[in-house]
Amino acid sequence: MTRLDSVIRRLTAQRDLLDWATREIDAHGLVLEVGLGNGRTYDHLRSRLPNREIYAFERALAAHPDCIPPEKYLMMGDVFETLPMFTERFGAGSVALAHVDIGTGDEEANRQLAKRLSPLLENLLQRGGLLVADRAFDLPNCTDISSQTNVAEGRYFVYRR
Ligand SMILES: C[S@@+](CC[C@H](N)C(=O)[O-])C[C@H]1O[C@@H](n2cnc3c(N)ncnc32)[C@H](O)[C@@H]1O
Repeated sequence: MTRLDSVIRRLTAQRDLLDWATREIDAHGLVLEVGLGNGRTYDHLRSRLPNREIYAFERALAAHPDCIPPEKYLMMGDVFETLPMFTERFGAGSVALAHVDIGTGDEEANRQLAKRLSPLLENLLQRGGLLVADRAFDLPNCTDISSQTNVAEGRYFVYRR
């Protein structure tokens, strides 16, 4: 598989899972985009969920100008500071869907990041809430349902609280 094939497969899995998750989620609860980046997946989420409140987390704003969330929904700063503040504000169990895409090319750093983020995100998920992520998370109170989706094993991950 070439690197181009690999990128295409990853992005296809990402889009397919976001489409699946936006059909699956509860009618109530907040939606989080953790890692706004260029704003591509945020744009996709808001097009699929036009009536939902979507909060985007980012530490260095570099999104396409058309994909910058309204100020009220943009949580600027390091997620290890902004997620606890968000939990204080909205409460544990307030989130119906969290999409997490904050990895880099450094796999060890990504593993550590996911390990540290796991309890923060798990605490925010409501009962039945979904975490969709570009890597595996360690969520003892959630079920890994990645294999129940049509996405190839190990390409993208889904957990249900
Ligand atoms: C791969 S990009 C996200 C791409 C995005 N999903 C898209 O489709 O355009 C990852 C983003 O996560 C952000 N990020 C990484 N670590 C972070 C942290 N600790 N706190 C906040 N943002 C972080 C980076 O600045 C980067 O913009």
